[in-house]
Amino acid sequence: MHRTTGVLLAALLLLIFLPGPLPAAGDPEHGQVLAEPCMGCHGIPGYRNVYPSFRVPKLGGQHEDYLVIALQGYQSKMRSHPTMQAQAATLSEQDMRDLAAYFASGPQPAAGEPVKTGRAAAGAEKVAVCTACHGTNGVSPAPNWPVLAGQHEDYLVHAITAYRDGGRKDPVMMGQAVNLSDQDIADIAAFYAAQEGLYTVSYAD
Ligand code: HEC
Ligand code: HEC
Repeated sequence: MHRTTGVLLAALLLLIFLPGPLPAAGDPEHGQVLAEPCMGCHGIPGYRNVYPSFRVPKLGGQHEDYLVIALQGYQSKMRSHPTMQAQAATLSEQDMRDLAAYFASGPQPAAGEPVKTGRAAAGAEKVAVCTACHGTNGVSPAPNWPVLAGQHEDYLVHAITAYRDGGRKDPVMMGQAVNLSDQDIADIAAFYAAQEGLYTVSYAD
């Protein structure tokens, strides 16, 4: 190889493989400022999405890394939901980190013994396959797997059904949901909703 070509090639390769600037850790104070438009839905306990009707997810106590992954899912349209796609469309990676840091800045739910009484009882057996990633009581051990404990029951039904029926394209969860019946999903959602965990973050807190 000609010497200059070799040098040029090396320089080019260096450019390609040089890591880009990594986003800094999330700044919860800036996240709180960015979160203002979010609070009209996520900051009101029990606030509902219409068509279909389900309560908007609780973000308080959720894993920070997972919140970023979820926002990326709406931005890339791997998750279908026109309102959230519009909310995420113009967020930079750093904005997402800051928002996630704000919503995750409160108390973190503890992994404990699951509640298996009442309506949770029907789902207790059916979640055996989920616990490796989502924890025995729905508090996931890894930061990129969502906490499910205490999430709204109707939102959980909506989310699991979306992985099964194609509204959410995450390959891991599509495989998990493919064989669940509507009854299984209802029972599993009742189980996770009965656990202690997530909460609604509001400016009043
Ligand atoms: C008009 C109401 C509304 C507004 C405003 C809104 N959201 Fe949402 N958000 C929703 C709904 C409804 C969902 C569930 C969507 C779905 O079906 O996946 C959701 C889902 C999410 C999720 C996924 C949660 C999970 O458990 O996977 C995150 C994260 C999120 N929103 C963050 C935000 C942020 C950050 C903002 C502000 C920049 C915002 N949202 C603004 C209604 C809203
Ligand atoms: C191999 C690990 C793994 C297993 C096993 C698993 N999950 Fe998940 N789960 C994930 C990941 C990763 C996501 C985030 C996917 C995404 O980005 O949308 C997720 C997301 C979810 C969500 C969405 C949470 C939210 O806030 O929107 C629900 C609900 C859920 N899983 C329920 C289940 C149930 C029920 C089972 C068992 C039938 C299960 N998962 C098994 C890894 C797993």
